[in-house]
Amino acid sequence: MKPVKVGILGLGTVGGGTVNVLKRNAQEISRRTGREIIITRASARDLTRKRICDTQGITLSTDSNEVINDPEIEIILELIGGTGLAKELVLKAIANGKHIVTANKALIALHGNEIFSAAKKANVMVCYEAAVAGGIPIIKAIREGLSGNQINWLAGIINGTGNFILTEMRDKGRDFDDVLAEAQALGYAEADPTFDVEGIDAGHKLMILASIAFGIPLQFENVFTEGITKITREDVEYAGELGYRIKHLGIARKTAKGIELRVHPTLIPERRLIANVDGVMNAILVQADAVGPTLYYGAGAGAEATASAVVADVVDVVRALSLNSESRVPALGFQESEIIDSTILTHEDIETAYYLRLTVEDKPGALADITNILAKQNISIEAIIQKKPLHGETNLPVIMLTQRTIEKEMNTAISAIEQLSSVTGQVTRIRLETLG
Ligand code: NDP
Ligand code: HSE
Repeated sequence: MKPVKVGILGLGTVGGGTVNVLKRNAQEISRRTGREIIITRASARDLTRKRICDTQGITLSTDSNEVINDPEIEIILELIGGTGLAKELVLKAIANGKHIVTANKALIALHGNEIFSAAKKANVMVCYEAAVAGGIPIIKAIREGLSGNQINWLAGIINGTGNFILTEMRDKGRDFDDVLAEAQALGYAEADPTFDVEGIDAGHKLMILASIAFGIPLQFENVFTEGITKITREDVEYAGELGYRIKHLGIARKTAKGIELRVHPTLIPERRLIANVDGVMNAILVQADAVGPTLYYGAGAGAEATASAVVADVVDVVRALSLNSESRVPALGFQESEIIDSTILTHEDIETAYYLRLTVEDKPGALADITNILAKQNISIEAIIQKKPLHGETNLPVIMLTQRTIEKEMNTAISAIEQLSSVTGQVTRIRLETLG
């Protein structure tokens, strides 16, 4: 059969890694597809820049339109990133009848509904395995491997940069900014690294996972996001004393009242496998009714780990080239007419347990005032650590773990506690999940 021609937009970390994997494993890949895959064109911003890949045999251009308008090319790999130019090029390529493979979670989370709908009309595929958790085939696992299940909840470490920073801070006592700079140099971080550390990137990925798990439209604006920038070394240590690790989790849960979509630092028991996922590694725990819990683990970022997922999508497209859109796996795993807009809970309505750290004056009754406020909001305390005063110290850290409660009740309790004259400064709150 005639080879399939591919065009690549962007030759950075992921684009470069993809060229390397497609070239190095060409023979093994064509044994799987039954057709040779050739990269004929690619675009980048600066053609003089040194690349991590060999671009021999590829026609390069700074104008991506030359790639998407080439009539010989059947599959376009969008590896530029962002939601401006990338969206414009993807929609134009779809209109030109090209199949799309992208690693761009921001693009899918924010514009996926529009892009999938355009693709359906044009009878082309849009694949995005690399958009969530780098090399872990989590999209395929949920959309196809678990398609016989009702998914109850999923929780994942889905940002490699954030997990790398938390791990290095905990294990080596390194400084936040220093580790972030290393993550950038290693090609893990987003073009704007605030997306990594403020939970926006994880929010994009969580939205995609929730859509394919529950068959709901993409709606990033309803995801609650909190980043890792306020986590202190003390919190990491106190959590450890209590038998927990702090991880930056994305959680999507179906409840009787609606769906929770949230990304935030979370205490999890250190005995859970996911609590021991370190460095740039990602892991997603999925709780489904028939299979029970399943855990997916692997590299969440990096050139070839991500390329592994991009190339797997290319293979899927090549295998499905002759099928019409009705015969293919639907973009979000559910038939388009069955994507149902369910209630998404606001973050005030989510239910979770909490770690609280506060600084309290060492005087009789101070702790009782705090526990009374919590009791008034029906919040039960699971554990308290009160540090012993050192000589001359009058303000002490108190750490509490609470049982599950509604976030609204906790907000009211925290505001009242912060008003107490015996409490100094703000209360630190980190959500806690046992993931049982
Ligand atoms: P890079 O910044 O390394 O690469 C982006 C590429 O796009 C560069 O080659 C750049 O050209 C090119 N580019 C930028 N603007 C233009 C333009 N106007 N015309 C043509 N080319 C352009 O990003 P990554 O490879 O890290 O990320 C790409 C995508 O993959 C993003 O959506 C990211 O979120 C996603 N992703 C990244 C992962 C990672 O580990 N890095 C993992 C999973 C997903 P030039 O090189 O000349 O500047
Ligand atoms: N910046 C992202 C991360 C890349 O660190 O997880 C992978 O999506």
